[in-house]
Amino acid sequence: MISLQEQAEAAYYDNNGELHIPAGGVEKKNTDNIVFKGDSGDKTEESINDEVSRDQNLSPNDEKDVGITGDKQLFEVIKSRKGYRDGVYYCGEKNDGNSSKIWVCSSLNVLADTRDHAQNNWGRLLSWQDNDNHEHVWACPAELLQASDQIEFRKALANGGLIISTNPRARKLLCDYVLTYRTDKKARCVDRIGWSNGRYVLNSQVIGREDHKDFIVYQGPVSADFATNGTLEDWKKTVAALAVENSRITFAISCSFAGVLAEIAGETGGGFQFTGETSKGKTSTLMDPAASVWGHPDSFAKKWRTTTNGLEALCLARNHNILILDDLGQIEPSEAGQAAYLIANGQGKARMTKDVSARPPIIWKTLLLSSGEVDLSQHVESAGKKARGGQVVRLPSIPADTGSGWYTIENLHGCTDGKEFSGKIKGSARLYYGSAGVAFLEKLAGDYLTIEAGIKTSISDIVKIFNLSSDHPPEVGRVAERFALVAYAGELATEYGITGWESVASLSSAQQCFREWLAQSDGSVGYDEQNLLYQISTYLQTYGGSRFPNCDIHPDDLAKVQCRSGFTRIEAGELQYLVESGAFRNELCKGFNLKWATEALIKKGWLIPGSDRPQQKPRVKALGKTVRVYVIDSKAIEGDEF
Ligand SMILES: Nc1ncnc2c1ncn2[C@@H]1O[C@H](COP(=O)(O)OP(=O)(O)OP(=O)(O)O)[C@@H](O)[C@H]1O
Ligand SMILES: [Mg+2]
Repeated sequence: MISLQEQAEAAYYDNNGELHIPAGGVEKKNTDNIVFKGDSGDKTEESINDEVSRDQNLSPNDEKDVGITGDKQLFEVIKSRKGYRDGVYYCGEKNDGNSSKIWVCSSLNVLADTRDHAQNNWGRLLSWQDNDNHEHVWACPAELLQASDQIEFRKALANGGLIISTNPRARKLLCDYVLTYRTDKKARCVDRIGWSNGRYVLNSQVIGREDHKDFIVYQGPVSADFATNGTLEDWKKTVAALAVENSRITFAISCSFAGVLAEIAGETGGGFQFTGETSKGKTSTLMDPAASVWGHPDSFAKKWRTTTNGLEALCLARNHNILILDDLGQIEPSEAGQAAYLIANGQGKARMTKDVSARPPIIWKTLLLSSGEVDLSQHVESAGKKARGGQVVRLPSIPADTGSGWYTIENLHGCTDGKEFSGKIKGSARLYYGSAGVAFLEKLAGDYLTIEAGIKTSISDIVKIFNLSSDHPPEVGRVAERFALVAYAGELATEYGITGWESVASLSSAQQCFREWLAQSDGSVGYDEQNLLYQISTYLQTYGGSRFPNCDIHPDDLAKVQCRSGFTRIEAGELQYLVESGAFRNELCKGFNLKWATEALIKKGWLIPGSDRPQQKPRVKALGKTVRVYVIDSKAIEGDEF
């Protein structure tokens, strides 16, 4: 873990032990530090390194007179000096030439310049202590200092316990101090929690190797969702121990560990839903223990009832982590499908900024853990809409009821009934929380490269244990990989000594949940075929008239056709679409495995194959030659009961 205060002390305390910010004379040990703030986008390590070397030229610190007059420092941070109140002082001169000091605020350190990966969102990394000696660190956006009254800037500091002079001149000087104080240190700001170069940024700390060339600090919306209470041992004894021989609880807790591995594992997006009737322990015995891995269940677990904007903010706040959304029934059925897509696809809506330039969409990767009385497709269908296969695959539904007679619970661990067990685990999860997640990250960050190198192989090995039959449609394989990720994460947490479970406990729970999902989904996973048919039908309905000229069209007219996707012809009195290979692959079957899609279309009677391959090779008069094309029957445009 990297302590910013240590960094600050290394840079700013002089030999006499006084906190003293030198006028640009800090020996430059660090080249690049990372601080959380602003949209960073995805960058490769290489491009970041390029930026680091360019930073030497971009530094606003190159101006020798920033923050100083000649050799004289304009501001000084004074601590424990006789006759002075601790704090930041402006050191000016009176008209008579005598020096004067104006007290500006309590001790406030300017640690570093900040900017994001795209060299935007410049700011200054500040640290101070409140009256309880609690340290605050804030990457203050430089743009905040350009507001006419700078009130938001002062409010943020005051809110964190900094004491600021009420003297109007001193208030203005505070702004000058923060803006101009010379520092040779640089920090990268990132705008969300999650992995950054092998370290994990949380709201209040950065977990990972101590690399003084490159430290990271979170700067985003203030949140107490991630919080710790009690020790890891407390949590293990009171929460994790109750998960033993309880497949659903073990799986739910393992999901919380899997959230931080989803990105590394290349998980395509989605999650799981526990489905079951009301008042049977979904929230208290599944969501709460899962949430307690990272924070207090009442803060960390959220409800489905939210707007699209709210959902995007939630996803961002759970980037590279688990997003727990309780009670699917709280979101309108008509919005539920889109919401699930939004979370799983990891990308917010593109928006316009005030000056109407396009702002890049917000991106995230989060694993969703949901609960509800009905599953996503039932919920969506209750609004008279058709559930899409993609939705079903993104949020596979696991029956919350284990069939034991105690609903979510299989082993009561000495409790007389489910109600007592539910109360016990619910109480413990509110008493001891957060330590498991941090402990997992600490171990994981130390092992990052090894995990990164081996995780995909380990996941496919686990999928093999699941023993899928070759009859299953390909989307079952995708879902199996997600279950395997959870198994892997739980096993890893056990190996790290975090859960106290027997080895393979997490694997068996994941396997059991996977099997039960598969058993109760009875063919609904085949929905992806419907997605394909829907996509093709929509495409032909939209572009059939403009991108598919008749094969007998005059070459002059053919030249006028834009974005041609193929041709049409009449065969035995029926219209057919002759789809060119590129359009077939990239438009009609976009997002689907081509081999699987052609087979599904042939089976459905939409694609009329040639004698030895899916394509035919008819003569197209307009081109004056034969062309290999996919021949689609007009059933497709009619939608033919899919
Ligand atoms: N396994 C169980 N057996 C019997 N009663 C239970 C069980 N689990 C929970 N309960 C009772 O149901 C109450 C509600 O539990 P909880 O909120 O976890 O249910 P839920 O499944 O999330 O319900 P809902 O779908 O309404 O959100 C608990 O306070 C407890 O009294
Ligand atoms: Mg509930």
